[in-house]
Amino acid sequence: MKVIVCADTESVARTAADIVADYASRGATLGLATGSTPLATYAELIRRHREEDLSFAECTAFLLDEYIGLDRGNPQSYYRFIRDEFTSHIDISDERVHSLDGTLDSREELDAEAARYERAIADAGGVDLQILGVGANGHIGFNEPGSPLDSTTRAAELAAKTIADNSRFFDSTDEVPREVLTQGLGTIGRAGHLLLLATGANKAHAVGALTRGPVTPDCPASVLQLHPQATVVLDAEAATDYQANPR
Ligand code: GLP
Repeated sequence: MKVIVCADTESVARTAADIVADYASRGATLGLATGSTPLATYAELIRRHREEDLSFAECTAFLLDEYIGLDRGNPQSYYRFIRDEFTSHIDISDERVHSLDGTLDSREELDAEAARYERAIADAGGVDLQILGVGANGHIGFNEPGSPLDSTTRAAELAAKTIADNSRFFDSTDEVPREVLTQGLGTIGRAGHLLLLATGANKAHAVGALTRGPVTPDCPASVLQLHPQATVVLDAEAATDYQANPR
């Protein structure tokens, strides 16, 4: 695992954008994460598209996860989020941005949707570069603590901590969906390169655990330690536990 500690969030965004741009210019398949952390990176990539001719026209993209129960028009759906914040501002065509359908409600339909997504990723030749944030409890995508390290795309329940953390995007905690569809830890691990971004002091503990702790379902992001090409880009605040505990 390669860990890069940057002075501030702007520098994290530039460092991450350099890596993403290298893949994008080769028409790679990109795995896109939602959450607030990658927003500065997406903004920097949009700037490079507008000002420096960076093109995503040959790229394909797969989202990591989706809330169950939010339709695509809902601004909090990850379908909408990734378009509003990133893909509608670059030259990737909408048909090439794949996502999970969270509007299904029966268990059978959700299982079929998860299987469809696994096949779609495989049919695309796999994800070349997977962008990841990390939850304060160590989750990646929506793989909460306890998720099997070899899990595939599936419906899952959110942890109370994640519901509380993500309630800031909703009018009230009650509006946060309890169930989600997410790529599994095994799915994520099959990407060619994992790029995890973390900023802010509230991520320091999770970053310490994922970089220094044991590989365990208790910290889903610790699977990055098993990956042959994982890059973690941190700002100084998120890096404090990592830097305090040299192995
Ligand atoms: C959500 C997403 C994750 C993301 C996490 C952290 O739960 N499913 O993919 O990494 O939030 O979000 P933030 O970057 O806003 O802290």
